[in-house]
Order: sequence, then structure tokens, then C-alpha cells
Amino acid sequence: MTFIKWDSAFETGITSVDHEHRELVELINTLHGKLVDDAPVEVISKFLGEVFVAISAHFALEETVMRKYDYDQYIDHKNHHEKLLDDVRDIMDAFEAGKYATYNEALSQAIHDWFVDHFRTRDARLYRKLGV
Ligand SMILES: [Fe+2]
Repeated sequence: MTFIKWDSAFETGITSVDHEHRELVELINTLHGKLVDDAPVEVISKFLGEVFVAISAHFALEETVMRKYDYDQYIDHKNHHEKLLDDVRDIMDAFEAGKYATYNEALSQAIHDWFVDHFRTRDARLYRKLGV
């Protein structure tokens, strides 16, 4: 079953950003599938690393867009990106420390919540404001 269903609220109107948003949703769905299938810890850890890299690259793209348009909430949005990346690092550390070994649903939920919330709040405002 698809973990995060694509929602039109995730669309921004900027082709490169939308493409990456779709890729991130796919990555998170794949991660969830691996957790559900009870993949080995090393596999999950490696995949979390890939998710982290993809998210970092996506945030960098979004921050470039914000600077280009002189976005009024650039600092707040960038700070939130940094918090999200810290959260993913914490999740990765907790996973590697065995915290999620017997309750993977909590890991999926943690990732789902921060990701979807960010899309629906800060990203939605950003692209509404840009009017693209
Ligand atoms: Fe964002």
C-alpha cells in the first residue's frame, strides 16, 4: 500500500521542484516498503542515507529559488529545512542505536509527519506567494 499518496497540495508549479517533490515521495514510500518488509538494519540505514542526501539536495534547490525571488520568509523557511535535516539525522541515529528495531511504524510515522507537514505549510505558502 502506498504510504504517502501524491496530493495536488504538493504541487508548486515550478517543474524542477515538483519533479523532486515526487521523487522524495517515492523515496519515502520505498523506505516505508523496506520497513514493512523488515529489511536488514544495514539496508535501511543505507537507504536512510540516500533519503537524507536527496532531501538535502532538494532543500538547496528550494533555497536557491527563494533567494532568486527574494522570498520574505527565506530565513524562517531555511531554518525549518535545517531543523528537518537535524530530525532526519536524529532518526538515523536512533535507528542505528536500535530504537526502531522492533517498532518500525514509529520511524515511518516520524518521517511522514515532518515531510508532509512541511509540504503543506511552508512549501505551500512559498509557492502561493511566488505566484508561479
Ligand atoms: Fe521547503
